[in-house]
This record gives sequence, structure tokens and C-alpha cells, in this order.
Amino acid sequence: MSHKAALLWIFLCCSVSFVPALGENAVLKGADDGAMDEFSDSKTQHGTVRYNMRKSLDLEQEGCYLQMGRKTCLEECGFNATAKSIFIIHGWTMSGMFERWMHKLVSAVMQREQEANVVVVDWIPMAQQLYPDAVNHTHGVGLDIAVMINWLQDELQLPLENVHLIGYSLGAHVAGYAGTFVEGTIGRITGLDPAGPMFEGVEEEKRLSPDDADFVDVLHTYTREALGVSIGIQQPIGDVDIYPNGGEVQPGCGLGDVLAVAGNFMEVMKCEHERAVHLFVDSLMNKEHVSFAFQCTGPDRFKKGICLSCRKNRCNNIGYNARKMRKRRNSKMYLKTRADTPFGGYHYQMKMHIFNRKQSDNADPTFYVKLYGAHNDTAKMLVVHDDVIGLNLTNTFLVFTDADIGDLLKISLTWEGESESWNSVWKTFKKSLWAWNAKPPKPVLEVRRIRVKAGETQKKFTFCAQDPSKTEISPGESLTFVKCRDGWEVKPRKRLLM
Ligand SMILES: *[C@@H]1O[C@H](CO)[C@@H](O)[C@H](O)[C@H]1NC(C)=O
Ligand SMILES: *[C@@H]1O[C@H](CO)[C@@H](O)[C@H](O)[C@H]1NC(C)=O
Ligand SMILES: *[C@@H]1O[C@H](CO)[C@@H](O)[C@H](O)[C@H]1NC(C)=O
Ligand SMILES: *[C@@H]1O[C@H](CO)[C@@H](O)[C@H](O)[C@H]1NC(C)=O
Repeated sequence: MSHKAALLWIFLCCSVSFVPALGENAVLKGADDGAMDEFSDSKTQHGTVRYNMRKSLDLEQEGCYLQMGRKTCLEECGFNATAKSIFIIHGWTMSGMFERWMHKLVSAVMQREQEANVVVVDWIPMAQQLYPDAVNHTHGVGLDIAVMINWLQDELQLPLENVHLIGYSLGAHVAGYAGTFVEGTIGRITGLDPAGPMFEGVEEEKRLSPDDADFVDVLHTYTREALGVSIGIQQPIGDVDIYPNGGEVQPGCGLGDVLAVAGNFMEVMKCEHERAVHLFVDSLMNKEHVSFAFQCTGPDRFKKGICLSCRKNRCNNIGYNARKMRKRRNSKMYLKTRADTPFGGYHYQMKMHIFNRKQSDNADPTFYVKLYGAHNDTAKMLVVHDDVIGLNLTNTFLVFTDADIGDLLKISLTWEGESESWNSVWKTFKKSLWAWNAKPPKPVLEVRRIRVKAGETQKKFTFCAQDPSKTEISPGESLTFVKCRDGWEVKPRKRLLM
């Protein structure tokens, strides 16, 4: 099945027979047949949305159901009105069960917020329908949640600022409706890759938007478009919109990566869409290694390393640790991540002026760096760049490392020209032309210093060629840069008092 066909399939089809693997764990399902009866009468929302309050980390336990109007349930469930209340809302489902991510998210939330009321909103009968029908139910389910929260306010004086709704995919828009209909303003809504189809470009009232809560933060992980739609919404819809890896290709989700596990395109899509949940879980579990996202006008500028600033709130923690920022709509933020948990890595901006010394106008260089840190070294890494590298110009690059190498001590720089790169057919052809004629002139580039800014620490350093008399590099050679003798740490500029 091609990617596009698969997408169409997922979009139009609601398969019950497929995917036993998607959600074989029915623990949270609370499998009673009542829900199925109501499923057949999907017009009446009342009673079909269930609020399963989790009481134990042991997911084998059924939990406890909150029922509107029944105060005894609150006592039985041990609802603590002064603690945080976190509602987790699933999205469109094909299997009719909670998928495995739900268990991970629930247990991560419960471990992080041990006193919180953690409530799973179960609207599965309405979510397990054709996608457009499930979309049509988001309004009603959101209203149901709002009515439930209003009742909690009346009954227990539940402070709304302590309420946090976390919605995945279609569930993010359900949360948006809940925020719209509730009396007052909910503290926070987190949208985990909010659904795109039938929400992209529609009015704010019909999707998650910044007005739905005091703070609306959104992770976008699967915004790649096919057939004019993307599974995750592309446009920014919160106060903070974070696009890990550009919201495009998530590392570890490639066909090659997931084929080994499951073997179809559905898994690729699921991997990328669901990555938002796993990044959020990661942010709950790994408090010590917080990942930052950086504000940037677009993914292309971010990939060039231009946007690694934390000044004036330009960076934020991702996931649960995101800080509320002053209302600033459409603030897109970016970061790169590792392929697996812990997802956080290390971003470096590298600026270097590349002098073209000898006959290198057509060199079309590709750079490689190896970073040496106080704790460890990286491998030799390709310096990724989309544009042609400008000669006689200062170029900015983004270098990302998986591992914490500690303070950066030394950089080794290599470049390969067209004639060394893997583009070999054309290259060999060209070479033979040269050989036939005369020896090709050897291109030489010169780099005197590399200015580095570490995104995670916001420290800036300047590295100079280890041997100041040797700053020229031929293809294949490597040049070592060490901290410059004087003033290698770039202090914020101050006016000289002299
Ligand atoms: C309710 O939550 C508050 C705030 O987290 C906490 O101080 C209090 O001990 C909790 N009460 C009970 C009975 O757990
Ligand atoms: C959505 O529901 C309303 C009634 O609640 C109905 O009139 C409308 O046709 C539905 N739309 C779709 C796409 O099913
Ligand atoms: C860069 O400058 C050198 C002289 O310093 C010149 O020979 C070369 O043509 C210039 N290259 C480009 C691409 O501007
Ligand atoms: C250094 O990195 C290598 C691989 O990059 C890894 O195998 C090794 O465990 C690391 N050493 C330390 C001390 O972190």
C-alpha cells in the first residue's frame, strides 16, 4: 500500500477487524456492555461519555467512575478538590479500545502528580466511527466534559485554574470545546498532535484555539501533507505551538525503523502522530533533562541554526514543563529530538566565515564536524544544510548531538568537495575529463574561527584554528579548532568605560 493510499484509507475507513495489535489492552476499557448499547444510539450524548478516575498505578485496577449528579461517587473515588485535576482525552479510534499510549500517559501523569485527580475521558463509542462522524461528536463530548466540570465547580468549588485537559488528536479539539463551554476559564489545555482533517483552516470556534484555556500548548508531530490533508493540524492553534523536528519526519519513525517491528505504513503514521504523546510522557518522566524548543518563523530558518535564542521568552520547555507565556498567538517553536526516549538532545549553532582561496568557486563543499567535550566526543557528523554553502560569506549551521558531551572543548572540521562526495557517477565522469586534459586544481577553503552557541546552555564560545598559521583546508583534510587564547567565551556585550 502506498503512503497516500494508506492515508486515504485511514481517513475514510473505520476498521474494527484490523489491528488487534493497536490496542490489545482493554484494562482501562472497563469492559461492560452498557457502553455498547449506547453506542447504537449515538445521538444521545448523555451517559455515553465516561469519566474513569484512576486510583492506582496498577493499571489492572478498574478505577472508579465519576457520575454527574452523584456526589457519593466523588467520595468513593477520593476526588480531592484542592489538588490538580487532569483529564486525559483520547482521539479517533479504530480498535474500539484504549491504545497502549494511554497507559503510558496515565502512569506518567500519576507518577509526576501523585495527588492529582487523574481522569480518563472515555468517549470510545463515539470515537469509533467513520472519521467525519467522530468529528461531529467532538462538540457534544466537549459539552459533556464542560457540564461535568461545571458540576464539580458547583459541588466542590473546584478551582478551574487547577484543571488541565490533555487531548490527543481528535481529543485535542474535544478539549477545545470543553474549554469553550465551561463556565469560567480552564487553567490549561495541552493538544497532542491535534487532528488536522476537517479542522485545518476552520474558524477558532470549531477547533482548539488560544481562548479555550488560560494556557494552551500544542505539540505538532505529524503535519506532513498527503492528498491535501495532514493527520496532525499544521497551523498554530495555541499560545505555544511546538513542532518537534519541524513537525515533519520524526526520527525513529522511518519505514526502515518501524518495518522491522510491524510491517506497514499504518505503523509509520501511527509512530509520527503518536510521537506527540511520547514526547509528553518523556517530559513528565525526565524532569532532569528538559528539552527546549526555540521560537522561529519557520522550519527552514531553524534548520539553519538561526533560532537558538532564549532572550525575551524565545525558548520554552516542551511538554508538561512548558511555561505559560504572555498571550502571544502563533508563536511557532522548534527543536530536534533523538529517536527514542529520552528524546532531548543538544543543539549547537555554528557560524563560520568560509573564505574561498583557490579555485574553489565550484567546490560545493559539504562539511563534517566532530565535537570534543569535557565528558565525551561525538562521531564525525555531517553538517546538514539545504542551501548551497556561501563562499566568502559567513554561514550558520545547526548541529545536533544525541549525547551530552559536556562543555565543548575542541572541534574538528573536515570538508569534502563535489569530487569527494557520494555523488560519484557524475564525479568520476568529471574527473576523467580533467585527467584527460590536465590535473584539476586542488580547491582550498579557509576557516579561521568558528563561533558556537549552545542552545541548551545559551553559552557562546569562539574557537580558533589550533595552529594559527594553518587555516586552509583541502578536501579530506581536517582542521582542529580550540578555544581561542583570549576571550573565547563571548560575554554579553558591554560598553567600555574608557
Ligand atoms: C489534597 O490535595 C492537596 C493539594 O495537593 C494536598 O495538600 C492534600 O493533602 C490532599 N488531601 C488528601 C486528603 O489527599
Ligand atoms: C452532524 O450532526 C448533526 C446533528 O447533530 C447532523 O445534522 C449532521 O448531518 C452531522 N454531520 C455529519 C458530517 O455527520
Ligand atoms: C572569493 O574571494 C576570492 C578572493 O579573495 C575570489 O578569488 C573568489 O572568486 C571569490 N569567490 C566567490 C564565490 O565570491
Ligand atoms: C561516549 O560515547 C560513546 C559513543 O558515542 C559511548 O559508547 C560511551 O559510553 C560514552 N562515554 C561516556 C563516558 O559517556
